[in-house]
Formats: sequence, structure tokens, C-alpha cells
Amino acid sequence: MRRGITAVVAHDDAVTPGLITEHVPGGAEIQVVEVVGTLFPPTDALKRSDADLLIVGCREGSDEGLALLDWWNSARPGRPSVVFCPSSNNGFVEEAFSVGADDLIVLEAGPDVSEYARRHVEFSLRKAIARNSTPSEQSTDVGKIVCVLGPKGGIGKTITACNLAVALAQAGKQTVLVDLDLQFGDVALSLGLTPETTSFDLAVSGGSLDSEKLDAFLLQHGSGLRVLAAPARPDQAASVTPEFIADVYALLRDEYDFIIVDTPPAFTPEVITTIDGSSYVCMVGMLDALSLKNTRLGMETLDLMGYDPDRVRVVLNRANTSVGITRNDVVSILGRTPDVLVPSHRDIARSVNEGAPVVISQRRSEAARSFEGLAGLFTQMPAVGASTQRKGRVLMRRGKI
Ligand SMILES: Nc1ncnc2c1ncn2[C@@H]1O[C@H](COP(=O)(O)OP(=O)(O)OP(=O)(O)O)[C@@H](O)[C@H]1O
Ligand SMILES: [Mg+2]
Repeated sequence: MRRGITAVVAHDDAVTPGLITEHVPGGAEIQVVEVVGTLFPPTDALKRSDADLLIVGCREGSDEGLALLDWWNSARPGRPSVVFCPSSNNGFVEEAFSVGADDLIVLEAGPDVSEYARRHVEFSLRKAIARNSTPSEQSTDVGKIVCVLGPKGGIGKTITACNLAVALAQAGKQTVLVDLDLQFGDVALSLGLTPETTSFDLAVSGGSLDSEKLDAFLLQHGSGLRVLAAPARPDQAASVTPEFIADVYALLRDEYDFIIVDTPPAFTPEVITTIDGSSYVCMVGMLDALSLKNTRLGMETLDLMGYDPDRVRVVLNRANTSVGITRNDVVSILGRTPDVLVPSHRDIARSVNEGAPVVISQRRSEAARSFEGLAGLFTQMPAVGASTQRKGRVLMRRGKI
């Protein structure tokens, strides 16, 4: 059962209190407990407020708005703040984030506000609360998002994502696999499924998105795994935006134990959104010097994003290949010991062609046991929420990644 959120609102004359409350879904979900008609310096009511979060309604570029966010951030550590603005450019978004805001929402003009805008606000406020809570406070009844990453092509990301997801489903976990390689995704094929519906079809289907609708677009695999397939053609990829993907994750987390995400070999905007919202990263590397160097660079990028290294698990693929690289070389190039080793095996290549992952077709093989071990690692890890503070998206806007 989800807990209701209490919010205090402070606004200037660019935003009416009515427009703000129109954007906030009513009922027990989110309760606006106080509305203050000035920003900075903070009023006594604000200083006394025990609300879960602050909503600052202000004009774009407002210094008073920024000063209030800064004050709230130091006076109420761990309690998020979200900015509501009639308009916005990236400059103000960055300024607001730099003084501790968790999100900035551009308001609809009103007086009638769409259902979509209200849902977007609710999602944003819930995300802000989840990000700021400590792991022990975070709900344990939400699914774990595992983002399978690897900055180089052909190193085994898709093999790993498919086998991990099927292993979890076979272990009785409610699992969904999302193919985020939007241009060249091949998850459905690797699992022997016909992608009758894809994320593109869902994105352009029109109307509001809810669990029932999402369910109708997921493919069904024999293991019990559900799959959100990648668009059928590269030109359809642009319709699947990072915002849409974030909405999809919010729904999936309520329904599934695990959301496994396969990614392309790049830090695309939708991959960064996934990392920002993920519980864990599964970094895949392959046993050759160039690939390991790229894996190291990928981990450095995660560091730059402030991603907690304890939430990263490293898979070394083709670990038994004889290429003149010792175990010590691997550790010194990667800067850490791989958590799971997957051997090179001709059955793996065959499993892709036959659309049957080795955890099904070759259950006794060493490779299958490695993927089952990987599934066991993620099963044991706690169900924590989003790991970072949208830092990836901020860095992306600044051109740092
Ligand atoms: N351990 C392995 N043993 C044998 N073959 C393997 C192994 N891992 C990967 N392969 C082969 O490499 C191919 C590429 O693997 P995969 O599709 O998982 O890579 P990827 O990292 O997802 O690539 P891309 O970035 O292009 O999507 C597989 O189709 C398979 O033939
Ligand atoms: Mg792939």
C-alpha cells in the first residue's frame, strides 16, 4: 500500500495557487497541507512545516525561487523539492537542480488541466520522495530495475539480459524484460518470440497509459517472462522518448519483481534515464583488452553520475577464452574483480539462432549456471529504488556525458 504524500506550496505571482492545486492529483495520494503566497525569505509557516516535500511555483529564472530551494535543501535534508513553472529553458532547470531541486515541471496553462499532466506530477513527486529516502525507508514491494550495460557492441549484453531474465522467471519471480536497444534490438528474436507489439506501438497508441494497457503490449514467453520488444524499424526509435520510458518503468515497478533492461552500446538519453531510475547496473565486459578498457570507461561514467559502486555487478563474458590476459590483468584494467564469469560456448551462439536461451536449452551447462548465479545475486540484493539524483540527465544536458 502506498503512503500518502504531504506537500507545502510556496509561490510567486506568476503562478496562481489554483493552477498549482489543479496539477496535483487530489484524494489521499498527495495532500497539499499549506499554501504560502511568498517565496523568500521563508515565512514562519514554512519554517514550521513538517511536510514531506516543497513545491515552489515561480516564474522562470526567479532568484527568490532559487533562494527558497537552497534554504529548504539545507533546512530539510532528505525532503525533496519540485519546481512548478509556467515556462522553462534548460538554464533554469540546471540552476534549480544546482540548489537541490529534484525536478522541474512546466505547468499547463489551465484552467482545465489534463489527466496526463496530473499523472506526470504524481509520478514526479513520488519519484522525488523515493530518491530521497534511505534504502531502509524505501518500499520493498516495488520491483528492482536492473540495467544491463556495456559500452561496446557484441560483447554479450543481450545474451546476459535474456538469460538473466529467463532465470529469474524460472525461479518464480515476476519478471519483465525491456528491450531498450531501440534501433537494433533483438531480444524478441533471441527468445524465439514474434514481436507482434513493440514499445513503438505502445508509444504511438494514443490515450493515457495504465497497467492494463501496458500489459496488452507485452509479449509472453514460455518461461512466464514478459517482454517489451524494441521497435521493428530504426526510424521508429525516436517515438520512444526517455519520458515515456520513465512512465513505463513507474507502472512496471508496481507489477513486477524484476524489470531487466537490455541496452544499446552507448549512453543514449533513454539509457541515462534508465540508469538514473535503476536499482542496479549489471555491467558486461568481454575478455579482451579493448573491451575491458571500454568496460572500465563505462564504470567511470557511472562514477561521474554518482552511481553507488555497490549497486554495480560485473559480468565477464567469454571468461575462459585464451587470449593472453590473466585474472590479475582483468582486475587491474577493470579496477575490480568480476562478480560472475560466463564461459565462451558454442551452445550460446546456437541458442541465439534457435531462440532458446541456455538457461532453458542447456540447463546443466556451465554458462547456464553462471546466469543462474547472476540471477541469485540480484535476488539477494534489497529492493531499493532509484539510485541517483537525475545526475545523469543533468550531466547529459551539460554535455559532460
Ligand atoms: N559466452 C559466449 N559464448 C559464445 N558466443 C557468445 C558468447 N557471448 C556472446 N556470444 C556471441 O556474440 C553474439 C553477440 O552477443 P550479444 O548480442 O549478446 O551482444 P551485445 O553486447 O548485445 O551486442 P550489441 O551491442 O550489438 O547489441 C551472440 O549472438 C553470440 O553469437
Ligand atoms: Mg544487444
